[in-house]
Amino acid sequence: MIHTRICDLLGIRHPIVLGGMGTATSPKLVAAVSNAGGFGTLGTSTLRGEQIAAAARAIREATDRPFGINHLLFRMNDDDYAQTLRARPNAVAFAWARKEQDLRSCFDRAHDAGAKVMYMVSTVAEASRAAAAGADIIIAQGSEGGGHVGWIATMVIVPMVVSAVSPAPVLAAGGIADGRGLAAALALGADGVLLGTRFLATPEAPLHANFKQAIVDSDGHDTVLTEIHDIASGQVWPGAMARVQRNAVIERWTGREWALRENLAEVSRALGEARRSGDVNNTTLLFGQDAGLIDSVKPAAEIVETMLAQAEEVIRGRLAPSVRA
Ligand SMILES: Cc1cc2nc3c(=O)[nH]c(=O)nc-3n(C[C@H](O)[C@H](O)[C@H](O)COP(=O)(O)O)c2cc1C
Repeated sequence: MIHTRICDLLGIRHPIVLGGMGTATSPKLVAAVSNAGGFGTLGTSTLRGEQIAAAARAIREATDRPFGINHLLFRMNDDDYAQTLRARPNAVAFAWARKEQDLRSCFDRAHDAGAKVMYMVSTVAEASRAAAAGADIIIAQGSEGGGHVGWIATMVIVPMVVSAVSPAPVLAAGGIADGRGLAAALALGADGVLLGTRFLATPEAPLHANFKQAIVDSDGHDTVLTEIHDIASGQVWPGAMARVQRNAVIERWTGREWALRENLAEVSRALGEARRSGDVNNTTLLFGQDAGLIDSVKPAAEIVETMLAQAEEVIRGRLAPSVRA
C-alpha cells in the first residue's frame, strides 16, 4: 500500500490519476480508474454544456468513487464550466491557461462548488502562478509525455516544481507507465502520478483497437513534438507542441506546414476519417515515449494493481536495502 497526501486530498486509495485526455477518455475509463482506487478524470475538449452533465451522470452510474473533470483553460467557455461545477466533481483539473487569464477567480468558483483544483504545468513559472492562485495540486508534466507538453523532461521539471510550490502537493506526469516510474516520481518529491498513454492501451479507452495496438507496437523511439496536429485541428495551443507518433501523416507535412494550412479543410476531413476507420498511418496519434514501456492492452484496474505492486517492490526490495548506516 502506498499512501500519500494526494490520497487524503482526493479521497482515493492509491496515488494514481488518469489524465483528462479529451476524446481519449470516457465515463467508462474514468469509472474504471476510480473503481480501481485511483482517480479518474474526464476530458471535455469536445463536450459542450449538457454533454458534460450527461457524462458526469454516466460516471456516477458506474462508480461511487471520486472523479474529476478536465478543462483546457485557454478555450474553456463559461457555460461549460458552469455545467462542470453543477455536476459536483471531486476535482476540476485544468491545463494550458493563457497568460492573461484570471486563475484565482476560476479556482475560487471550483472551491465554492466543493471541488479541489488540479492544475497541470510544464514550467516552474506556471506552477508558481497556479499555486499563488490557490491550486490544491500541481501536476508537473514532462516533455516525454503524450499529447500537449512543454520543453523540460519529467526527471527535471518534477523536482523543480516540487521545490517551487512546497508544501503544495505535486503529481508527476509524462513518461510514467509502470511501478518503476511511480517509485521514481515519489523519490523526486511528487505525491503521486498522473498517467495518459498507459491508460490509452486499455479495453476501457474509447479508441480504435488499431490505435491501442500502435502504442503496444511502438518502441518509444518513434514519437516527435510537432504542431501539425494543432494546425490540422485549427487550434493554437499556448506554449505547447503535441507529442505524436512520427507516422506517414507527420512525415508528409513536416517542413510543409504552409501547404497543410493551404489544404486545411481537406486534410482535416481526411484525418478525421482515418481516425474513425483506425487507419493509424493517416491520422495523428498522440502518445508518449512511455509507449516503449507498454507491451499489452490490459484493463485499467490491472494497470493500477501491477503498478503499485512493482513500486512497492522497488522501494522495499531495492531502494531501502541499498541504504547503509
Ligand atoms: C491523446 C491525449 C490527449 C490528451 N488530452 C489532454 C487534455 O485534453 N487535457 C489535459 O489536461 N491533458 C491532456 N493530455 C495530457 C495527459 O493528461 C497527460 O499529461 C500526459 O498524457 C502524460 O504523459 P504520458 O502520456 O506519458 O502518461 C492528453 C494526452 C494524450 C496522450
